[in-house]
Amino acid sequence: MPRNTTTGGAPAPQMLSVALPKGRLGEKVYGMFEAAGYGCPAIRENSRRLIFENPAAGVRYFWVKPSDVPIYVERGAADIGVAGKDILLEYNPEVYELLDLGLGRCRMAVAARQDFHDSGERTLRVATKFPEIARQHYAARCRDIDVIKLNGSIELAPILGLSDVIVDIVETGTTLRENNLVVLEEIFPISARLIVNQSAFRFKTAGIEAVAEKMKEQVETDD
Ligand code: PRP
Repeated sequence: MPRNTTTGGAPAPQMLSVALPKGRLGEKVYGMFEAAGYGCPAIRENSRRLIFENPAAGVRYFWVKPSDVPIYVERGAADIGVAGKDILLEYNPEVYELLDLGLGRCRMAVAARQDFHDSGERTLRVATKFPEIARQHYAARCRDIDVIKLNGSIELAPILGLSDVIVDIVETGTTLRENNLVVLEEIFPISARLIVNQSAFRFKTAGIEAVAEKMKEQVETDD
């Protein structure tokens, strides 16, 4: 349980700062922290604030762009964060990955137009938001590729002839279906992970382990 700040002369809890990914996944993740006993009621109020603090529970939350979560955690601006396995594999931050939260499940896949056939004779043009993942995937197959880094609406690339294939996230498959694209290969499954700054883990071990333990109970309850 989070410790109480005021009773019996007990020392104030060490604040743990948590970087949450902005958006639908972040709302769910916050729900897990809340159910684990680390609530911060003000966060539920619809506002543009980015920092929320509950000193009694010993937590401070930041809303950050999902792909920035590992940067905050790696550099120690946040002790803890939640990031998708896709982002962790793309940026390979030096953080500890403590727990699979089982949220935000989807997969990384190669997709193309239904009529695409890879003869293997020329460099494959790959559009993606995940250039490192794409490079590693094709390097392991000794396939020459030309990575075309885009920031969104990746599915447009093969339709407009900008690329041969895409490497992208597939969740429900609706975006691919509605754009007449098909999955050629699944690369790996994705879910949200609890990550921790390495030195924070050394200096705030008890507090971080308590959070991880409570979150694990939430994961097990949801299974
Ligand atoms: C992601 C991903 C796909 C889509 C997959 O895009 O890049 O486009 O979701 O979801 P589905 O299989 O359920 O259709 P996102 O919504 O993040 O938008 P983006 O195009 O800006 O990347």
